[in-house]
Amino acid sequence: MARSIVKEAVSTELARTTKLARLIRGLRRRPTQWSAGWITYWQLSQLPSSRRGDLFRAYQNVFAEKPWEEHWTERTFAQKLVRELSIPDIPQYSEDLVFLTLVDGDDDFPVGAFCWGAVVDNETIPGRVLSARRFSGKDVDKITEATSHIIGKRLVYVDDMGVVARFRGGPLPVAKLCYPPAWLATNLQLEVICWSDAASRLSPILDAYGWRRLCEVSDVAFFYQDVAGITDKAQQIQEMVAGLGQSLKPLF
Ligand SMILES: CC(C)(COP(=O)(O)OP(=O)(O)OC[C@H]1O[C@@H](n2cnc3c(N)ncnc32)[C@H](O)[C@@H]1OP(=O)(O)O)[C@@H](O)C(=O)NCCC(=O)NCCS
Repeated sequence: MARSIVKEAVSTELARTTKLARLIRGLRRRPTQWSAGWITYWQLSQLPSSRRGDLFRAYQNVFAEKPWEEHWTERTFAQKLVRELSIPDIPQYSEDLVFLTLVDGDDDFPVGAFCWGAVVDNETIPGRVLSARRFSGKDVDKITEATSHIIGKRLVYVDDMGVVARFRGGPLPVAKLCYPPAWLATNLQLEVICWSDAASRLSPILDAYGWRRLCEVSDVAFFYQDVAGITDKAQQIQEMVAGLGQSLKPLF
């Protein structure tokens, strides 16, 4: 009796792993067009070179704003993209995945909104955070401590998101950026971590939608959703987007 329960559990787990591996292989083969003007690339190589310049223009514009006032060049931006969105082509990384979502804008800003991140190992987060921002050693210790309580070894990590100012307002832009990582986490049954500056509009949005604050360091808050929470969010966003009349590729 006990042996057959174990056998069943093993075969269920095997089926789950096979299903996930198949899903990841499929995503790495082609991007997902959620609806017109809204796409997610699952590898940096899927991003057409013609769109890189448009993404750079959007990113440069968003983070030139206060409080960031950053000065990105095409070269430093390309290095950042490669750093955050590369998957080494070796078997050990065969189940890793990145995501880069773009929402169309207008003639001046052909990319109007963007969001990217990756499925990463829990312990790589402090390194990822450090290469994006200058944090003190104490801050990194705090982030390491906070993220070490995450149950899963692998999780979905959101590196960056932004909407060019003229396209902001209303729930749709943010929903379109949040849906792909939520969809991914739901399908892979992974937790999610993202971060936001205290000054960003994103912080009150995440608070209002029930994200848990993991820790706060130097004006940056790290937010967390468990698997049940993110599944709920993915469903809510799907219904909201469909309710706003956007036809959307089905969730699960
Ligand atoms: C962060 C960012 C993506 C948010 O997009 P936005 O379009 O400005 O978001 P808004 O503040 O207009 O809010 C969008 C929707 O979220 C919801 N929302 C926002 N704040 C909310 C709150 N406190 N409670 C409940 N819902 C809220 C609402 O549905 C709102 O739609 P509404 O305006 O019709 O009510 C955008 O401001 C941006 O790109 N900022 C610069 C870059 C940045 O901060 N990046 C992230 C951190 S590094």
